[in-house]
Amino acid sequence: MNDIELQRLLEQMTLEEKVAQLLQLAPAFYEGANSAGQITGPLEGMGITEETVSQTGSVLGLGGAEEAITIQEAHMRRNRLSIPLITMADVIHGYRTIFPVPLAIGCSWDMELARRSASIAAKEAAVAGIHVTFSPMADLTRDPRWGRVMESTGEDPWLNSEYARAFVRGYQGTGVADEPYKIAACIKHFAAYGAAEGGRDYNTVDMSEWMRREYYMPSYKAALDEGCEMVMTAFNTVDGIPASGNRRLMRDLLREEWGFDGVLISDWGAVKEMIPHGVAEDEKECARKAIEAGVDIEMMSPCYPHHLQELVESGEVDIRLVDEAVLRILKLKRKLGLFEKPHRYADPAAERDILLSEEHLAAAHEAALKSCVLLKNEGGALPLAKGAKVALIGPFALSDDLLGPWSCMGVREEAVTLAEGIRAVAGESLVTAAGCGMEQMTDEELAAMLDAARSADVVVLALGEASEMSGEAGCRADIRLPCRQLELVKRVCELGKKTVAVLFNGRPLDLHGVLDEADAVLEAWYPGTKGGAAVAELLYGEANPSGRLTMSFPQSVGQVPVYYNAFNTGRPQSSPDAPVRYESQYLDIPNAPMLPFGYGLSYSDFRYGDASLSADSIGANGKLTLTVRVTNAGDRAGEETVQLYVRDIAGETVRPLRELKAFEKATLEAGASKEITFGIKEEMLRYHHSDLQYKSDPGKFEVMVGPNSRDVQTLSFKLNG
Ligand code: GLC
Repeated sequence: MNDIELQRLLEQMTLEEKVAQLLQLAPAFYEGANSAGQITGPLEGMGITEETVSQTGSVLGLGGAEEAITIQEAHMRRNRLSIPLITMADVIHGYRTIFPVPLAIGCSWDMELARRSASIAAKEAAVAGIHVTFSPMADLTRDPRWGRVMESTGEDPWLNSEYARAFVRGYQGTGVADEPYKIAACIKHFAAYGAAEGGRDYNTVDMSEWMRREYYMPSYKAALDEGCEMVMTAFNTVDGIPASGNRRLMRDLLREEWGFDGVLISDWGAVKEMIPHGVAEDEKECARKAIEAGVDIEMMSPCYPHHLQELVESGEVDIRLVDEAVLRILKLKRKLGLFEKPHRYADPAAERDILLSEEHLAAAHEAALKSCVLLKNEGGALPLAKGAKVALIGPFALSDDLLGPWSCMGVREEAVTLAEGIRAVAGESLVTAAGCGMEQMTDEELAAMLDAARSADVVVLALGEASEMSGEAGCRADIRLPCRQLELVKRVCELGKKTVAVLFNGRPLDLHGVLDEADAVLEAWYPGTKGGAAVAELLYGEANPSGRLTMSFPQSVGQVPVYYNAFNTGRPQSSPDAPVRYESQYLDIPNAPMLPFGYGLSYSDFRYGDASLSADSIGANGKLTLTVRVTNAGDRAGEETVQLYVRDIAGETVRPLRELKAFEKATLEAGASKEITFGIKEEMLRYHHSDLQYKSDPGKFEVMVGPNSRDVQTLSFKLNG
């Protein structure tokens, strides 16, 4: 269908049909949906007519190829112009084969792994009848109280941008129409949703445009530069106006300055939430503000269907705003080939072959191996000896709650538990497993776990948060492990056995009572369908941990927000070990996080030689090379992530103590070494000035290289005028 035919289709649509095309409903509203029959509930609740449902443009959710085919067929029959539905879903870290949560994948520092996970998710979703995923979530996060940090890739704008690009490439390939089994991506949540005050979901977000552009916006822009087809509005305010009604954000910045002409969808109910936000008195005002801001699709609230027609007919809203929104949706349907093939790749037979295929499970397994982060390993606690008697105890010993939030069509029972994984590696006879509740532990359970521990050579404590303790609206003001788990750690460590803690959680935690007690700690996050198998292989050394943190672990929740790329302030702490009053510090805890951005250990022993620079200055078109030799002085092959940071000593605005600008992964055999080089160019030194111009300044810089953001070597150079 060419542009003229599309325009003709638009002209054939009545105003009512145009308005309905801008509405997205859940499957329950549609004939043929597995969840149909609830149609009276949400239908009446939202005051949506059957007629409107037959004219809607898109559906959110769906339970597989058969349902998708049934709903689409029924819809096409009832829709006067046979305009197909576009189906969208939250395919966040896998469709049925579930990968580690994005914060875990972020810790792999492996863009190809991220891309491949999205490509596999896209293929499984495509054969299940999904056309668009509400992913990647590119919200920069600095506050582990917020439940959705598990859905992000962390606190660095450059790394988040690299991941946003990789995920979009995975979902869309070179283009949704160019390659088979690709689906459209939707970057979210625009904008700066990760900065909710107090880490409390849906709470106020307020920051300068300078801060927003410097830290929070780059990852969204990177996704759009990679061709991301859609954008989703955030629930929060931006400069005092909710994103879904924010014309400066959506029209001036997103569409005019950035040139985005794709589909903009509101988050669930966000258009109508302008009423409780206090910027609209009624649905009608919500509808007007949203369409004026350029929101094309209203997700699961009825402001458009209830009022947009009246607003156009009364002249309060220009019909052209509605037409351009409808046209953007029709163009996306065209790009997805839905007019020619309304079912696209939906195919129950293909679904049975492709979902959970060995190839996909193997990819999820590899992702879990690379996403875990070894936080501590003392006294040779890890890797575990194959012949050792193991007591596997704690709430996650036998739990299948390993998929994490936003696990789409993943089935918990299909997850490999840690007990299954360890038994597969070590043998049934050597493993005694005893579980308990996540926050409750009976005296009998405690006794059974301690008994198991007493009779074992080594104890593996499987600890963490239930998946509903993070994710959307899963915010916690106390980010320690539940107190009964901490009691278990203490009681077990008093036995004097080698003790290893494995953490299954969706956020950086305050690890007091764990990191200081156990001999070794492995952060496994929510590792997905193959999680227990991968963790067990890491524990026994069949794989060597290589993950590196992309969010700082705070000393305590009182330190939040704590992040590596912070400003120095006018009174930086001069001596952490002997605090001097009237400097920026706490009286009761260190300034430094408990574990820094970029941190992670392995079973190898990576040593860094002296770094050197090829020159002590560069010009605007010059290039400086940093060289450092990395040696694996350990007795096992392993993978090191060599990180490069830069610091601008004096900018027009304050500049962070360090900023990640590049990294190189080096896989080294025992005893091997490798010379790692980084190119440093002027464009790496650019930043937003107070007038928002993005450029570099001549002057002094420091460049740092090392295994994380803390343990670095520092060299200096100048950028010439
Ligand atoms: C939710 C989330 C958003 C998700 C949408 C559809 O409220 O904020 O990330 O894509 O609704 O499920």
